[in-house]
Amino acid sequence: MKKAKILFLSLLVMVLSLAFASASLAGPIVIKFSHVVAEKTPKGQMAIKFKELVEKRLPGKVEVEVFPNSQLFGDNKVLEAMLLGDVQLAAPSLSKFKKYTKVLQLYDLPFLFKDMDAVGRFQQGPFGQKMLHSLESKGLLGLGYLHNGLKQLSCNSPLRVPADCKNKKFRIMSSDVLAAQFEAVGAMPLKKPFSEVFTLLQTKAIDGQENTWTNIYSKKFYEVQPYITESNHGLLDYMVVTSAQFWKGLPADIRAEVKKCLDEAIAYGNELSAKMAIADKEKIIASKRSKVITLTPEEREQWVKAMKPVWKKFENQIGKEYIDAAIAANK
Ligand code: LMR
Repeated sequence: MKKAKILFLSLLVMVLSLAFASASLAGPIVIKFSHVVAEKTPKGQMAIKFKELVEKRLPGKVEVEVFPNSQLFGDNKVLEAMLLGDVQLAAPSLSKFKKYTKVLQLYDLPFLFKDMDAVGRFQQGPFGQKMLHSLESKGLLGLGYLHNGLKQLSCNSPLRVPADCKNKKFRIMSSDVLAAQFEAVGAMPLKKPFSEVFTLLQTKAIDGQENTWTNIYSKKFYEVQPYITESNHGLLDYMVVTSAQFWKGLPADIRAEVKKCLDEAIAYGNELSAKMAIADKEKIIASKRSKVITLTPEEREQWVKAMKPVWKKFENQIGKEYIDAAIAANK
């Protein structure tokens, strides 16, 4: 009887240590978060906050590895890599999903949103929320929107009116709407990865580019662009995405906690984006490396008139009801 008890206990110890060994071999779930911007940007800070929250609330269960500055993937590769399971989280700009869906082209329409509050209202409304599901047939899930802000135009010559862009080469993100926007003012758009922009500007292979204050500051574009026109002509925001296979494969309790951390990190990043846009613009002005041009209402109106016809070209691909809902969010 005693022998049997000893045998049973040894077996139990063996089973338990095997279970323990295989659990520790399996290790924590690793979430690789790849992005292209610097750490001192709304997206860079949001990613760091997400890592901190997850590792505090799910210690030993989930680890987050953040790869900024296109260290792991550029935006032209990251979604393919995600579908292959090589990265679990990314937040590409809304301009970079054209291979996967057409509806997100809405966010590139020039002069669509009057300010970031209007953007927020639209994104949180029924149309904006529906758009988060627009990638599902391709195996990707939109988990939320993250703000960067409104774009400005930088160039090696002053841009006051659309005619100043004539025959100038501008780097754009991989978006047909942005190509049409620059063609509408007689410029030559070139689709190039974010990681190449500084060198293209520095070597004068291109004349200008469009971006937000935080990207212009953190990537030092202002050091190689003598003029920045405060045009606020378009939006640069992000969709935080993951692969459906990875997300649905997470244990339900872990998935719920990770989503909570993500929502909090996004709220943090969004709050920061407004503050950083103001602060980085001030830093650029103070540097005196680049002159910031403020448009008169009449000059701005000329840009609106030249660029807005682009809307009509993309109306069928996007859906008029989405454009109408975005316009309504301005009120
Ligand atoms: C760009 O390519 O200019 C931006 O999408 C970079 C970013 O992620 O903000």
